[in-house]
Amino acid sequence: MSAAPVEHVDELEAYGDSVAGCVRCRLARGRTQVVFGSGNPQADLMFVGEAPGFHEDKQGLPFVGQAGKLLEKLLAQIGLQRSDVYIANVLKCRPPGNRNPQDDEIEACESHLFRQIELIQPVVVATLGNFATKLLSGRPLGITRVHGQEQQTTIGGRSVLLYPLYHPAAALYTPSMLNILAADFARLPELLGSSLEPVAAPAAEPELTLVAAHAASEQLGLF
Ligand code: URA
Repeated sequence: MSAAPVEHVDELEAYGDSVAGCVRCRLARGRTQVVFGSGNPQADLMFVGEAPGFHEDKQGLPFVGQAGKLLEKLLAQIGLQRSDVYIANVLKCRPPGNRNPQDDEIEACESHLFRQIELIQPVVVATLGNFATKLLSGRPLGITRVHGQEQQTTIGGRSVLLYPLYHPAAALYTPSMLNILAADFARLPELLGSSLEPVAAPAAEPELTLVAAHAASEQLGLF
């Protein structure tokens, strides 16, 4: 667990409640609900994705679709579960048709993410894909250039280790990317300064067992 004071747990919950009615941008009109974030509010490890998709918008939770299932498998590889980490997105509301976030939407939403990070006080923030990586690094370098390269940065007045990773949704359909993502993921225990023992991944679920990805990732024991 992070050193986040216990009062921050309540503060985070209260902040989430206050964001539920957010109308700072146009996405408020098309959403079912705000997807604030979920997981351990005192986690050492926080993931930041892009934006809610169809299932996330319906359920009110981040990463509950196919990309989320892959994220859970990758976590299992390093001995962690969803409940050990905190998961959030750059945007808290679903863009129509899952289009890319627009600059003004990111600007309107970013203080919600910064406040989450400030309250959770994670040791490592793993950014998933380009949008989270560019926002939190403050640099325009794309994920292909910077994945797997940790960098110390300051967010919410605290030093955190930023660790860019490929987005699981992109890796789902590109076996070579999936292998890189799994290899980058395997460094997380080291970055967290712990010696977490990898545990066996849960049995493959048919919907995730994409033939090409299966073959490419077998040596990593991903499926
Ligand atoms: N992709 C994301 O970036 N976030 C989610 O919550 C789900 C899919």
